[in-house]
Amino acid sequence: MGIIPQSALLGHNGAMNADVNTLPIGVFDSGVGGLTVLKALREELPRENLIYLGDTARLPYGTKSPASISRYASQATRQLQEQGIKLLVVACNTASAVALDTLREQMHPVPVTGVVEPGAAAAVAARPGGSHLVLATEATVRLGAYRRAIHERDPDAEVRELACELLVALAEEGWRDGPIAESIVRRYLGELGNPPHDPDSVILGCTHFPILRDAIASAFDQAVVIVDSASTTAAVAREQLQSLAIVNGQDSPGSLTLLATDGATRFARVGGQFLGEDLAAEDIRVVDL
Ligand code: DGL
Repeated sequence: MGIIPQSALLGHNGAMNADVNTLPIGVFDSGVGGLTVLKALREELPRENLIYLGDTARLPYGTKSPASISRYASQATRQLQEQGIKLLVVACNTASAVALDTLREQMHPVPVTGVVEPGAAAAVAARPGGSHLVLATEATVRLGAYRRAIHERDPDAEVRELACELLVALAEEGWRDGPIAESIVRRYLGELGNPPHDPDSVILGCTHFPILRDAIASAFDQAVVIVDSASTTAAVAREQLQSLAIVNGQDSPGSLTLLATDGATRFARVGGQFLGEDLAAEDIRVVDL
C-alpha cells in the first residue's frame, strides 16, 4: 500500500474518515525496546491491529547526533506511513525527544504520540513535588526532554538525568537481571555520588529499560517508585482514537505485524522476552528503509 492520500484520511469537515478505523496503529523504536509499549497497547486496545517496526540495523539511536536520529525516525515513519496507519506511536524516547514535531508534520493529519510526555505525566502523578531521577539515552539526556516535560507539569519537582547507554545493549542482549546487569546499573548510579541519594521516583526514560526493571530497582530503596511510560502512552493512544472516533470496532483480537531492518532471528529471540511470548524468525519481516 502506498502512502494514503490526505483526502482519503480526512472528510469534508477536516475530521478523520470513519473507514480509517480498521487501519493498524504503527509503532516504532530503534530496536526491540518499543515492544514494551506495544505490549501495553495490546492490553489497552486488544481489538486494534498493530504494526511494529524495529530499526535494528541502525540501533542505537541514543548515541547519534540529532540530525541522524531525526533522519532515521523520519525514514522509519515513512515505512509505516506506506503500510497505511491511523495513528503513529513513537515508542522510542530518543526519537520522541529529538523528532516528535517533525514526525507530526510528516504524518499530518494522522495523529502521533510520543513517550516522553506520558512518562513525565506518570512520574508527576506518582510523586507530585517529588525528586525524579531519569535514566535515559545520551541524546534524551542532552536535550533535557524529561526535565522540561516534568517542569511544565510540576515546576517544584527536582529532576536529575543520567545517560545509561550500555543498558540499551544489555536489554538488546536479553540480559535482564543478575549480577552483571545489577553492577552496570550501580556503576552508572555511582556517577551521581556514592552512595546515591534515593529519589522519590526513577523514570525509565528509554523504552528498553522496563525489561531491566528488577536490576534497576535492586539499586534503590523499596519506597522508590519505578515509572515507565508504556501504560500511560497506551492510555493516551486510546484517548486519541476515541476523540477522533477511529476506534476499531471489530469483534476479533487485533492482528500483529512485526518488521525489523535487520536480524530477524535475533529480533525474535530477544523480542519474545519483551513481549512475553515465543516469536520465530519467520514472524519478523525484514525491510529496508
Ligand atoms: N529505546 C530507545 C529509547 O527509548 C532508544 C535506544 C537507543 O537506540 O539508543 O530511547
